Amino acid sequence: MYNFDEIINRANTSCLKHDFTDAYFGDYKNLQALWVADMDFKTPSCIIDAMNEKINHGIFGYTRPTKTLINSVISWMKDKHNYTIKEEYLSFVNGVVPAYSSAIEAFSAIGDEVILQTPVYYPLFNHIKNNNRVLVTNPLKNNNGYYTMDLEDLEKKITKKTKIFVLCSPHNPVGRVWNKEELEALGNICLKHNIKIISDEIHADLVFKKFTAIASVSEEIADITLTLNSAGKTFNIAGLNCAYAICHNASMKRAFDKVSIKREVNSVNLFGFVAHEAAYTKGLSWLEELKKYLQNNIDFTYSFLKNHNSKIEFVKPEATYLLWLNFNKLNNTHEENKHKLLNDAKVALNDGTSFGKEGNNFFRLNCALPQEELEKALNKIISVF
Ligand SMILES: Cc1ncc(COP(=O)(O)O)c(C=O)c1O
Repeated sequence: MYNFDEIINRANTSCLKHDFTDAYFGDYKNLQALWVADMDFKTPSCIIDAMNEKINHGIFGYTRPTKTLINSVISWMKDKHNYTIKEEYLSFVNGVVPAYSSAIEAFSAIGDEVILQTPVYYPLFNHIKNNNRVLVTNPLKNNNGYYTMDLEDLEKKITKKTKIFVLCSPHNPVGRVWNKEELEALGNICLKHNIKIISDEIHADLVFKKFTAIASVSEEIADITLTLNSAGKTFNIAGLNCAYAICHNASMKRAFDKVSIKREVNSVNLFGFVAHEAAYTKGLSWLEELKKYLQNNIDFTYSFLKNHNSKIEFVKPEATYLLWLNFNKLNNTHEENKHKLLNDAKVALNDGTSFGKEGNNFFRLNCALPQEELEKALNKIISVF
């Protein structure tokens, strides 16, 4: 019904992933882009139609979220994730990352400690440092490529100065969808030590198993949590800069909104609103097809590497189109592998070490592209390793 095989030329469209690959990767040129976490698929026509309607109206003044938009988010959370939220919990923002940075400021003071689980999406640790907070890492346990939380280590790392725990759920880059038991155990530790949780759930819709929002686990955990989400990843509309925070606790919400207003993070682009409402009211069938295509690309990559007896390994992710490739079985250093990928194979993957030191000898491959293009990239990789 939807054609995810269509190869769409994204050159000269101001897109970071393709137009700025060479600039980002420095000396290496003519690279195939498999890095930034957006997809090479067209957003569904229900979103394009809704945006066209606005374009034809022709007036693009200041905006505020409408009741229909708010209801679309509430219904999506309930129907898709069995998570009940109310209008008063919601704040619209111009991105998960800007909102995350605001939340760090709102819930802690300079010099306070913030804990997060590495390896992890790098802006999450950058903004702890940018806000002059102390970054404390609670590395995930790597069990032959299947990652789990190390809650024993977490308890050891907590001090009187620990104010925030940052959760990436589902986890980028390791692809875990945390289950209810894991989230409950984590939430209870945070409750015991009076620590607030910021949960980045931007990948929640791109899951291949049941997703649980941490704030849906118990009322007590919801009361210490600020959740960040967006349709940006799900529907390939990240460039529209729209996201939202969900906060059950009214005083936490006030503190968050105050910083978000001060930083102008609450000012959202009209098309972000329009696209979100269309996605959440009309986009479900597209999303279901997309997930099948992504699962197929993941399986294809897995079989391709196995069939070529490759020493590059990965465990199939439970969510996202991001593959956390392990190069440890090759007898090369991380830098040697990086050079081979960029210089010889001419493919641009994210460097694992940018997600933390645990990413040494890992590279993250974005497989959200037509399978024909994915196969080209895999052939290039196989030919040099
Ligand atoms: C875990 C995670 N959070 C947030 C973002 C970016 O969110 P936004 O573009 O809304 O700031 C990304 C993008 O890759 C991500 O992977």
